[in-house]
Amino acid sequence: MAQQYRITLLPGDGIGPEIMSVAVDVLKVVGKKFDIDFEFEEALIGGAAIDATGEPLPTATLETCRRSDAVLLAAIGGYKWDNLPSHLRPEAGLLALRAGLGLFANLRPAKIFPQLINASTLKPEVVEGVDIMVVRELTGGIYFSKPKGIFATETGQKRGVNTMAYTESEIERIGRVAFETARQRRGKLCSVDKANVLEVSQLWRDRMTKLAAEYPDVELSHMYVDNAAMQLVRAPKQFDTIVTGNLFGDILSDIAAILTGSIGMLPSASLGTENPGLFEPVHGSAPDIAGQDKANPLAQVLSAAMMLRYGLKQPQAADFVEQGVFKVLQTNARTGDIMSPGMKLLGCQAMGKALIEVLEAEIYS
Ligand code: IPM
Ligand code: MG
Repeated sequence: MAQQYRITLLPGDGIGPEIMSVAVDVLKVVGKKFDIDFEFEEALIGGAAIDATGEPLPTATLETCRRSDAVLLAAIGGYKWDNLPSHLRPEAGLLALRAGLGLFANLRPAKIFPQLINASTLKPEVVEGVDIMVVRELTGGIYFSKPKGIFATETGQKRGVNTMAYTESEIERIGRVAFETARQRRGKLCSVDKANVLEVSQLWRDRMTKLAAEYPDVELSHMYVDNAAMQLVRAPKQFDTIVTGNLFGDILSDIAAILTGSIGMLPSASLGTENPGLFEPVHGSAPDIAGQDKANPLAQVLSAAMMLRYGLKQPQAADFVEQGVFKVLQTNARTGDIMSPGMKLLGCQAMGKALIEVLEAEIYS
């Protein structure tokens, strides 16, 4: 009998719906090949949810996500909602979803496809062979800790406040995910902090160092975040797995992403312990090209592959999708963000079609 999975789809805003539709088509082919029966249920998040319900994460959406085996998200946000108060902005929906599902571990791989070396803004010899995994803490730190807000002061001036805080157990649980991840890669883990200035980082470094004793096969190093940002563009091949807090991870994962040529190629997985995982591209909703059939759907497709690997424990199906992406690049198919001279420029739908052809050829050959 076919294996059955319920997948919540959150297409969101901007280019979200266009790239999601490609990923769903890819999953249907995967279903045929591996005898998997996907039941898709679409729900609202972000600006689309604000327009329909007044809230960026309706309760019904969170419930649908909780009931499913995995959640596939495209992107949220756009100019239209940029001036709303922060708790009503699309971004608040995403943060509430991460918190509501307890997704404290965010895995963001940055691996360069050899076909795209020339699409990088860095020299080929710097980026060739880059293969980094950023493990970002996702439900704590300065994004969530209290106090937070904009408060009136006695002088009549307003004061904006956020708090960067981590408890030992929060550090330890993300640390464990990172050590386990490094163990399955090249066995090197770099913990990134700002321990020369911040107490929260001193505790972070201390806990990571203690944890290292339990993982003798993993080589742990520490780096300050400013230096890490520089090293990522100077000599990225020194990194294997990076573990860091929420804000530093947000910034460093964008830098790691662009090493590979385009943020339009990179997927991510957000995992917790009790609830289904959330799988989404690292890029945003690109409102400037939304609805123009120009978006690169491959990060969304690769997010579906991460969903198969980490969420549904279907590694062969994940390999099949990732190899399909590799092969479609071999045919010189490119969207605008990864275009280079001599390649074939395709829109979002045509790239999807090219990929489906490659995958179907695998099945029926
Ligand atoms: C990301 C994004 C989000 C974040 C925004 C959209 C809330 O930049 O996933 O990296 O800051 O985490
Ligand atoms: Mg970000």
